[in-house]
Amino acid sequence: MTLSPKRVVVLGATSAIGAGIAERYAAAGSSIFLVGRNEQRTRQVAETMTMLGATKVGIYLADLRARDQFGDIVRTAVEALGGIDLVIIAHAVLPVQAELDYDVDASMDTLMTNMMSPIDLMHRFALVLEGSGGGSLVVLSSVAGDRGRKGMTAYAAAKAAVSAYAAGLRGRFADHNVHVLTVKPGPVRTPMTEGRALPFMAGLEPVVTSIVRAIERKAVVIYTPWFWRPIAAALRLLPERVVMKLSL
Ligand SMILES: NC(=O)c1ccc[n+]([C@@H]2O[C@H](COP(=O)([O-])OP(=O)(O)OC[C@H]3O[C@@H](n4cnc5c(N)ncnc54)[C@H](OP(=O)(O)O)[C@@H]3O)[C@@H](O)[C@H]2O)c1
Repeated sequence: MTLSPKRVVVLGATSAIGAGIAERYAAAGSSIFLVGRNEQRTRQVAETMTMLGATKVGIYLADLRARDQFGDIVRTAVEALGGIDLVIIAHAVLPVQAELDYDVDASMDTLMTNMMSPIDLMHRFALVLEGSGGGSLVVLSSVAGDRGRKGMTAYAAAKAAVSAYAAGLRGRFADHNVHVLTVKPGPVRTPMTEGRALPFMAGLEPVVTSIVRAIERKAVVIYTPWFWRPIAAALRLLPERVVMKLSL
């Protein structure tokens, strides 16, 4: 697929999926603004972007639970790139559920990282895109958000909220040329899933390819790999008493 250069912001720049998408745009001569919390790894991602052909790479270091920094992140990204065409929101954590079951604070921290933070950022960046004539906002949700269950209490709840909020923004800003893409991957082989026994684990590259295709054709909601769409539809129909027994 031939991509045209874009001004791209990545939140959670060291994410395998987020960086994978940005790499495709870097290779097309895009300018990239990376927001990550780990300096060494964010710099490594920046070097890769430059090596692939990015015309400009900016870095911003932040723990994305710190909402008081978000205004500055948005301003700095706009200044560094001279405007924004594409925002990728990729940061999240997947805690071991057993460690959350009796720890409400840890559960709330997961909601901060996976729900409040991406929702705040997507709304802020949607406003920037609206004000500058439009662009694409890509939010990494998950098939897990389609059904709450005991194996992923906070993670599934956060992804459900992210998907719902993205749907609201999509409708609200559609007339202003703001394209909001919700991505619902099933399990993908990345650091997030390392050591986990999850079904139908997909490879990173085909998932990244499907997301880039969806960005380019301005899709609104994708499941990736595609077969998660019918599986998720079936999961949504399962009676709650059956879902209560699911261990995943
Ligand atoms: N992999 C899957 O199976 C899968 C399935 C469905 C949905 N997704 C979603 O896809 C997105 C990308 O996942 P991935 O597989 O690429 O995961 P990943 O490689 O583990 O990346 C997760 C990223 O989130 C960052 N992050 C976590 N907490 C942060 C914080 N407080 N501040 C800043 N950055 C923070 C991590 O930064 P550090 O490098 O500093 O830790 C890392 O860059 C996530 O939203 C995930 O929920 C993934």
